[in-house]
Amino acid sequence: PPLHSIINSYDFEEAAARTAPKKAFTFYSTAATDCWTRDMNETMYKRIWFRPRILHDVSRIDTSTTILRNKVKVPIFICPTGLAKMIHPEAEKALARAAKATGIIEVLSTSASHPVEDIVAEAPDHPFFFQLYVNRDRKKSEELLVKVNRLGLKAIFVTVDAAGRGKRESDERLVVDEPVINPVTGERIMPDKKGGGLTRMMGSYLDESLSWADLAWIRSLTTLPIVLKGITTAADAKLAMQYGVDGILLSNHGGRNLDYSPPAILVLLEMHKLCPEIFERMEVYVDGGIRRGGDIIKALCLGATAVGVGRTFLYALNYGSEGAEHLVELLKDEMESVMKLIGITNVSECHPGLVNTLDVDHL
Ligand code: FNR
Repeated sequence: PPLHSIINSYDFEEAAARTAPKKAFTFYSTAATDCWTRDMNETMYKRIWFRPRILHDVSRIDTSTTILRNKVKVPIFICPTGLAKMIHPEAEKALARAAKATGIIEVLSTSASHPVEDIVAEAPDHPFFFQLYVNRDRKKSEELLVKVNRLGLKAIFVTVDAAGRGKRESDERLVVDEPVINPVTGERIMPDKKGGGLTRMMGSYLDESLSWADLAWIRSLTTLPIVLKGITTAADAKLAMQYGVDGILLSNHGGRNLDYSPPAILVLLEMHKLCPEIFERMEVYVDGGIRRGGDIIKALCLGATAVGVGRTFLYALNYGSEGAEHLVELLKDEMESVMKLIGITNVSECHPGLVNTLDVDHL
């Protein structure tokens, strides 16, 4: 379908399901075991209602904000995702151009299909963040961080929810003949007797011994802000604050690792009960299941500074950089419309009183 017929993020998903290479769509869309967390990530936003306020002058709307002091035009970032090349040869490079064009930030994955230096060269002077998977060969991570510092990226998102990989069954079931290359090691990823699961075969470099004590090692290697990606409890949010990180991303990895880990919106609510002070002390982001501009406003009302979008950017990449730009515009338009209708003109006016969470408070 032509790009102008795509009018929401679900349309991008449907188009990718029909037209993208089968293995790409399967790898992107899959999640762990029952895919319950993936599905509930979306569903939970649908259980939160607005408490709209009327008769405010909403003739001028501003969706811009800052993330770790970087100005963005919309409070959305592109989540780090591996193997974007499976859907478009330009992959993260095309996303980089779209990020610059729309004034948002792309978080580059350790498993990106292109080298970091090539991606950032697509959008000179534009801020990028880097997502770190710590390699069991720690020297490799050290070299990577040196490079990322030298290239002028603006923050390090350390992924902390990948001590084990989820069992992603549709990815395992779909065994394909065409070779997939592991962008980190350069090796061909080959199916084995457990199936054709790309993540299982790619993830062998991840250091499962990573612990809180290692944050000091990461801190010693960079002066950039450090964000922990993959917090799912208030208890760990508190620990993260005690360890002095600069931000946390409440995320369950799109439901791809631990199935039955909670949707980020529930973690936000738990934090309001157990550690509300954290929202004053550092930036909190969420990802997982963001499909509508209204979802973004709900997350912001509950204390998020910005939200990450993962799969939908991969689906939009089916249309190259233009597709990703279109996705940001669609989400921004939906956000603006919701902002007007709930009576705010600036994202800084988002607050918990604008949403009704009764339906999920007991969860
Ligand atoms: C991911 N995610 C991910 N996270 C990370 O820290 N490093 C990575 O390399 C990847 N790779 C990856 C590949 C694919 C295909 C997907 C779908 C996801 C997780 C990602 O950053 C993010 O947390 C979720 O995708 C957010 O959920 P939604 O927006 O996909 O629902």
